[in-house]
Amino acid sequence: MTVYSEILQDFAEEKRLRRLPEELAPGLIDLSSNDYMSLGEHCKELIPEFMERFPDACFSSSASRLLSSKQKYHKKLESLLESLYGKPALLFNSGYHANVGCISALTLPSTLFICDRLIHASIIDGLRMADSKFTRFPHNDINRLEAILKKEYDNFNRIIIVAEAIYSMDGDEAPLRDLVELKRRYPGIMLYLDEAHAFGVRGDKGLGLAEEKSLIEEIDIIVGTLGKAAASAGAFIISSEELKLFFINTARPFIFSTALPPVNAAWSIMMIERLNSMKHERKHLSAISSYFAKHIEEISGRNTGSTSQIIPFLTGDSARSLDIAAKLKEAGFIALPIRRPTVPPGGERIRFSLCSDMKPEDFDDLFQILSAL
Ligand SMILES: Cc1ncc(COP(=O)(O)O)c(C=O)c1O
Repeated sequence: MTVYSEILQDFAEEKRLRRLPEELAPGLIDLSSNDYMSLGEHCKELIPEFMERFPDACFSSSASRLLSSKQKYHKKLESLLESLYGKPALLFNSGYHANVGCISALTLPSTLFICDRLIHASIIDGLRMADSKFTRFPHNDINRLEAILKKEYDNFNRIIIVAEAIYSMDGDEAPLRDLVELKRRYPGIMLYLDEAHAFGVRGDKGLGLAEEKSLIEEIDIIVGTLGKAAASAGAFIISSEELKLFFINTARPFIFSTALPPVNAAWSIMMIERLNSMKHERKHLSAISSYFAKHIEEISGRNTGSTSQIIPFLTGDSARSLDIAAKLKEAGFIALPIRRPTVPPGGERIRFSLCSDMKPEDFDDLFQILSAL
C-alpha cells in the first residue's frame, strides 16, 4: 500500500473522503450552489444579447495581464467597478488568487495580520505562503480583537485586520461598523474585507456589505468574487491607486498567471450591470432566507446565527452529515455535507445556500424530512 492510499484510507475511515459531486439532475433543488441571484440559472437566455454586445470577445488572453495585448474587456470591467465603488479596481483570476496574492504581497517586515478565526482558506494560504506574522481572534469577538490591538499596536509598523463580510460556512456577518470604529481609535491600522458571499447579494447596487453600511470609503481593501452571485469567474479588489499599482507589481498570482479570458471579463460586465438593478430579487432572497432559518431553528432547537442566504444545520459529526445529505438527495434536494478540513472538528454541518428564484413552498418537503430525522 502506498503512503497516498494509506492517507486516503484514513480519510475514508473518518468519513471525510471527498469525491466530486455529480452533474445536477433535472428536477432537483440545488441548495449547494453559490449562484445566489440565480443569474447562472438563466445564462442561456442571455447569450444572444451577449453576442450582440461583445462579438469580438475572444476565449484566451494568451498571457498574463502584464504582458497580454488583449486588455480591452479587462479594463472596461475595471472601469465599471471603479465607477460603482468610486475607488480603483484590479481584476484577479479568482478569489483564491486575489487573497493569496494580496495577503502575501502585503507581508512586509513589521506587519501583523489580525484575522477572524473563521477566515477563508485562501487567506490562510496567503499568510502561510509569505510566512506572515499573524494571530487570530475568536469569531466576530470585537473585545478580544481590541485586546490584541492594545497589546500589539506599538510593536508593529502596520497592523491589518482581516474579516469576511458574510462568513462562507456560518452565514453570519462581520461587525463592520465596530471594525471601522477600531480604525478610528487605532490610527493607521488597515481593514481587509472579503465580500465573496456578499457581492451581488447585499447593498442597494449589490456591491456588498460595505455598500449596505455605507462604509466602502473606510475599508482599505475589499475583495469581491465573480464566480458566485455574479455567475461568472474571477475576482477583483477595490483599494487605492497606490495599492492597485503595488499589487500589479508584487502580487505573484497576478503577475505569473495567464489573465482571465476576455470573453469572461465581458460576461462579468453584463452580469454586474444586471446585479445592480436586482433590488427586488435581493429583497426576496433576504425574505426566504429568514423564513428558512426560522424553520431550521424550530427543527434543531438552536439559533443558526445566520443573517444571510447561507444557513448552517449543524450535525457535529461527519457520518451524520453524510446520512442527512443522502436522505435529502433521495427527496430531491442537493445540500452538501461540510466536513473537515473545511470546518473544524465538531463543526460538521449541512450548509444550505439559497438562491433568489426559490420560493418558500420549495422547502416544505425538506423541513418535513429534517423534522423526522
Ligand atoms: C470567503 C471566500 N473567499 C474567497 C473564495 C475564493 O473565491 P474563488 O472561488 O473565486 O476562488 C471563496 C470561495 O469559496 C470564499 O468563500
